[in-house]
Amino acid sequence: ARTPPARIALRGPALSLKADPFALPAGDCLDHIEDALIVIEDGVIAAIGPYADLAPGLSPEIDLIDHRTGLIVPGFIDAHVHYPQLQMIGAYGTQLLEWLDAYTFPAEMSFADAAHAERVAGLFLRELLRAGTTTAMVYCTVHPHSVDAFFAESERFNTRMIAGKVLMDRNAPAPLLDTAQRGFEESAALIARWHRRGRQLYCVTPRFAPTSTEAQLDAAGALLHEANGLFLQTHLCENPGEVEWVRELFPARASYLDVYAAAGLVGPRSMFGHAVHVHEGDFCTCHQAGAGLAHCPTSNLFLGSGLFRLFEAVDPRRPVRVGLGTDVGGGTSLSQLQSLNEAYKVAALTGHKLNAVQGLYLATLGGARALHLDDRLGRLAPGYEADIVVLDPKATPLLGFRTDYCNSIEELVFVLMTLGDDRAVRATYVAGAPVYDRDRTGERFRY
Ligand code: GUN
Ligand code: ZN
Repeated sequence: ARTPPARIALRGPALSLKADPFALPAGDCLDHIEDALIVIEDGVIAAIGPYADLAPGLSPEIDLIDHRTGLIVPGFIDAHVHYPQLQMIGAYGTQLLEWLDAYTFPAEMSFADAAHAERVAGLFLRELLRAGTTTAMVYCTVHPHSVDAFFAESERFNTRMIAGKVLMDRNAPAPLLDTAQRGFEESAALIARWHRRGRQLYCVTPRFAPTSTEAQLDAAGALLHEANGLFLQTHLCENPGEVEWVRELFPARASYLDVYAAAGLVGPRSMFGHAVHVHEGDFCTCHQAGAGLAHCPTSNLFLGSGLFRLFEAVDPRRPVRVGLGTDVGGGTSLSQLQSLNEAYKVAALTGHKLNAVQGLYLATLGGARALHLDDRLGRLAPGYEADIVVLDPKATPLLGFRTDYCNSIEELVFVLMTLGDDRAVRATYVAGAPVYDRDRTGERFRY
């Protein structure tokens, strides 16, 4: 793992959330400091406040980085993404079930080659950091070495990542199948190797109900008891044809979500991708269980899956924890700014307005809450892990011109959400270490 510099400080405008803007007025949720100093020690934010207040106490030895022309925000969190699907992102012409057969399973079969997995894991991690994403909940493939490749790369960057081996014991090509027993044993070994090693966290990963037998879903439930703090990820109610298939495969279950509940898979740190075609009862179940839903707007639009009812999900009467997922390769961008661009349009099509503060929340503190990691991720505040992104409001000629006409910080963030992407990420810090610098200006940056 990279050792972060002992002490580093960032200066510039800083913006993060301290409360839920789906429950409270935006103004009550923002922490905005126009000229902030963020002091980082041992990978954690030691102090944050107005530069004028904190600068006098600063040691002359500290590595002070000037980001006064940027906007400093918490690193983005991607609640749902598939690293092995980078090679087929943007594949033409199909909806979910056909898309899996035509593009996804063939791509994942190429991960039988461990060297291929290592190459793609390296590219994926770098692309995440270029997009300003510092934590992601990641599907690997059925091959255990695809998980080793991913965590080894994450450990090199010291990123806090959540990932796991896909479990599939039916309805997929034979080279991608395990069995309930083998999937259990391979997952248990990966948990022993990687869970809570440095910043890495393991996620039990049954792909979705159609590709697992009841025996395998039960084994996934048993795996969750192998260690403390394990995560679970799977897909839920993404596409009408898929929902119908699950009804046929599990006739005894009251709903798609109930298939997972019956196996003990619906609890805190469970993350269900998509949830486009769920009902009020499912929202209630997730609320009570503390389970999360991943809103994946670029994917739901690209695959024609439907419109996630975000504002219904987060209804303050029984709020469900919602994170923002890119779902690459079903999704079309690793940039959470682009996810928010599409999330705004999905909200508009369902009769709602997603404001900039709500958008920033989904990509940061809201995602951390959905993952039950909000005691350490998603904010710029003392004690929080120093995963930090510096956005550039002048990243492109159009952004440079447009942002001259922004009259508030909310307007600026909204324009960055709409027009921004990886080009708008100037620098990324992981546990206080400078890892990415778009302009390659500082020698201190590693990538
Ligand atoms: N459902 C089952 N597997 C997948 C996948 O890889 N991507 C998406 N978007 N949905 C799925
Ligand atoms: Zn997915």
